[in-house]
Amino acid sequence: MFAPGRPEPIPSPNLWHWPEVYEVENHAQDSGCAIWAALRDAGGWRDADVLDIGCGDGFHLPLFAREARTVTGIEPHPPLVRRARERVSELAGVRVVAGCAEQIPLPDDSVDVAHARTAYFFGPGCEPGLLEADRVLRPGGLLAVVDLDTTRAPYGDWMRADLPRLNPEKVERFFSRQGFESRTVDTVWCFEDRSALEAVLQIEFSATVAARAIAETAGLTIPVSYRLRTRRAPRGLVMR
Ligand SMILES: C[S@@+](CC[C@H](N)C(=O)[O-])C[C@H]1O[C@@H](n2cnc3c(N)ncnc32)[C@H](O)[C@@H]1O
Repeated sequence: MFAPGRPEPIPSPNLWHWPEVYEVENHAQDSGCAIWAALRDAGGWRDADVLDIGCGDGFHLPLFAREARTVTGIEPHPPLVRRARERVSELAGVRVVAGCAEQIPLPDDSVDVAHARTAYFFGPGCEPGLLEADRVLRPGGLLAVVDLDTTRAPYGDWMRADLPRLNPEKVERFFSRQGFESRTVDTVWCFEDRSALEAVLQIEFSATVAARAIAETAGLTIPVSYRLRTRRAPRGLVMR
């Protein structure tokens, strides 16, 4: 879909290939709303112009829309752009734009809160997206990056088993050097039945690690920790 020279999206096999199972996963995630509470502590989004970068099929857009002034989702994968647009088609002030973090298709100084959840901002390499976020944020606007905490058991152990080259300390140092404050948010994923839980683990992990995760999980819940990383866009004169 991109013209030559435009960035390629980072593949997201879970959501790209199994959007219905990912929908179940999104419903199961953060059952106690701990991430939303942490986002509120960080400044919240009431009456704000909100941007969700890498919005996928738009699961979080209606949730932001309850309090935001406007909500824009950007997403590079065309089938997900279509699904997200369907999801928000009847919501006033909410739109979905095809695009990516490295070239956000919005004007300078046009949003108050930019949010990205398990999308693009994974550590070193995401500098172009950080620059773009600063460009579209109004001075003092909030950039909030939510990602899984790969150091916390059990979920982090399973992730590291599948990604042996992952270096959590390096990721942490990167975001710290980029001026982010990071905090851990403990959540519980809560499923309606065992088959839903197992299907989600099977789209998140290799067959071997999924089998291990299923064997190590009794019942219908999984403790999963996240890192919430926040920083404010510069105020005053900025050289772009
Ligand atoms: C794991 S999904 C998360 C989707 C959504 N944030 C959610 O929590 O439901 C990651 C998303 O990031 C998108 N993505 C991949 N590369 C991207 C890029 N360069 N800029 C913005 N989004 C990107 C993928 O297409 C996918 O929709």
